[in-house]
Amino acid sequence: MATLKKRHDYDYLHTELPILLDETSEGVHRIEGIVATLRNYAHDDAQQGQPVCLKELVETSLRLVHHELKYVVRQVNREYVDIPEVWCRPAQISQVLVNLLVNAAQAMPEGGDISIRLNQLGERYVELSVCDQGQGIADELMPRLFESFVTSKPAGKGTGLGLPICHDIMISHGGEIRAENRPGGGACFTLILPIHQS
Ligand SMILES: Nc1ncnc2c1ncn2[C@@H]1O[C@H](COP(=O)(O)OP(=O)(O)OP(=O)(O)O)[C@@H](O)[C@H]1O
Ligand SMILES: [Mg+2]
Repeated sequence: MATLKKRHDYDYLHTELPILLDETSEGVHRIEGIVATLRNYAHDDAQQGQPVCLKELVETSLRLVHHELKYVVRQVNREYVDIPEVWCRPAQISQVLVNLLVNAAQAMPEGGDISIRLNQLGERYVELSVCDQGQGIADELMPRLFESFVTSKPAGKGTGLGLPICHDIMISHGGEIRAENRPGGGACFTLILPIHQS
């Protein structure tokens, strides 16, 4: 028995295998969620607008990019006020959030926090902002930020299509997207969405 155990690394397997299986199972569940979301994207044309809880949509989007954020984002601060459900195509708005979150993480290679704020603007609009503690948006990019193929990232890392897609999606929802640098450092992207179908 002792020889067999040694030959097959029994002690090592006995302690490591349960951990490995737990992590594998967690990974498979995450893949399941991502595939389900991708399926939504694939059927996007067919997807109708519907009343959506933005708070939940933010959480779904965060889960989707967990892997991209986990090594650089120390903390995700959330400031949510109670707002009504908002009419939108959820897979598209989630895609906007995913693009903003990945940009935020890529802007903070040394690490930092992301702050997400959800607010109501008067009777008819809501505002959702994603802010980071990165290097901020370069001045020369600011005027062309939402144009296709504008990127400061090396080939293979960025294509400069994330923000133009965000812009198109927001316009198709009767909303808008704004970008600014924060006085204390870092970039802030703000989405404005009408609550009701326009
Ligand atoms: N949070 C941010 N902080 C600083 N700069 C940013 C931020 N978000 C975007 N930018 C700047 O805007 C550029 C364009 O962003 P965009 O998301 O459109 O393209 P990308 O991230 O370069 O590539 P892709 O999104 O297609 O992978 C980025 O290359 C970067 O220079
Ligand atoms: Mg991007």
